[in-house]
Amino acid sequence: MKRIIYLSLIALLFACTSEQEGKLKSFTPGQTWQDNNGVHINAHGGGILFHDNLYYWYGEHKIVGGAGNKAQVGVHVYSSKDLYNWKDEGIALAVDTVDMKSDIAKGAIIERPKVIYNKKTKKFVMWFHLELKDKGYDAARSGIAVADAATGPFTYVKSIRPNQKDWPINVQDFHKLPVADTVKESYCGGKDCLPSHVDSLNLLGRDYAVGQMARDMNLFVDDNGKAYHLYSSEENSTLHIAELSDDYLSHSGKFVRVFPNRYMEAPTIFKTSKGKYYFIGSDCTGWAPNAARSASADNIFGPWTELGNPCIGEEAVTTFKSQSTYILPVQGKKDAFIYMGDRWTPENPIDGQYIWLPIQFKEDKIALEWKENWDLTVF
Ligand code: DGJ
Repeated sequence: MKRIIYLSLIALLFACTSEQEGKLKSFTPGQTWQDNNGVHINAHGGGILFHDNLYYWYGEHKIVGGAGNKAQVGVHVYSSKDLYNWKDEGIALAVDTVDMKSDIAKGAIIERPKVIYNKKTKKFVMWFHLELKDKGYDAARSGIAVADAATGPFTYVKSIRPNQKDWPINVQDFHKLPVADTVKESYCGGKDCLPSHVDSLNLLGRDYAVGQMARDMNLFVDDNGKAYHLYSSEENSTLHIAELSDDYLSHSGKFVRVFPNRYMEAPTIFKTSKGKYYFIGSDCTGWAPNAARSASADNIFGPWTELGNPCIGEEAVTTFKSQSTYILPVQGKKDAFIYMGDRWTPENPIDGQYIWLPIQFKEDKIALEWKENWDLTVF
């Protein structure tokens, strides 16, 4: 008996020691990032919510093989106290495996999910880029789901095309002119075959009645609780920044067009303690990485001034082989922000890696430098 107790104590001690040793204390961008079960984190195109002293990481659950970029499972959520070690909290929003006509039927495309907390309604609100099953990227819709707890389960509410029958603050007279049928059918599947300046097509006017296209997206909550939806619109040619309603479930109708004809994807926004807004996004090259773009503004609705590629050094032209997905404000530290990017692996999407790097401020610009290994003491 004594021997059994002795052996059990040794085993317990060993388990505690190895758990301690397994505790991550730094970020290693581009390396496999194991969760509490020793499994590579599966939350791509993700975003973070900080709520009640915990960080929650939501992202696309990918599977093995070519079909893995379609939503076969749903949106995965993890929690963390320290940003290094993440606990698997399961699937926050599950695809519909029964009703194949559902917007979120298994096989639809659910990308870049983001969750914000509404203090008035006490609901967790998720928005994501939604493409309907078997329709490629044509639908360009935004999906919305809600939950009573950060880890879900989220209930799917609806999908929309934003700002139907609303004009942006900076609408121009030509947008309101009738749009020819030829223009209405002019989309040719990519920026390479659109005219050199898409304003000649008046895609905004084309989609006024049905709602604007919304593909790559993000959410941003300002200090005053107002939330904004940023989305690549007008065949990806132009970004929209749109204010949400007070319950965060729809748009208020107030929005602006920014970076027309710049084909900005992967939009992210953050705000410093000085009240300055910064933007990081990408060019539009499918799953292949490209040079990031950055911009700043004193007002979220602009004017926005482009500041160029924030990346410095080797692989700056590919954003260190990544594409932005979220800028994470580190709690308890002033003006400490982490660039979160995806290193996509479309041939086997589940292998996609995460590139997290600290954002540096250099005079009026922001900068990103490669780091093999780093921790929060850099801030
Ligand atoms: C780039 C986007 O940023 C991704 O979210 C995804 O939509 C791919 N394009 C699809 O090619």
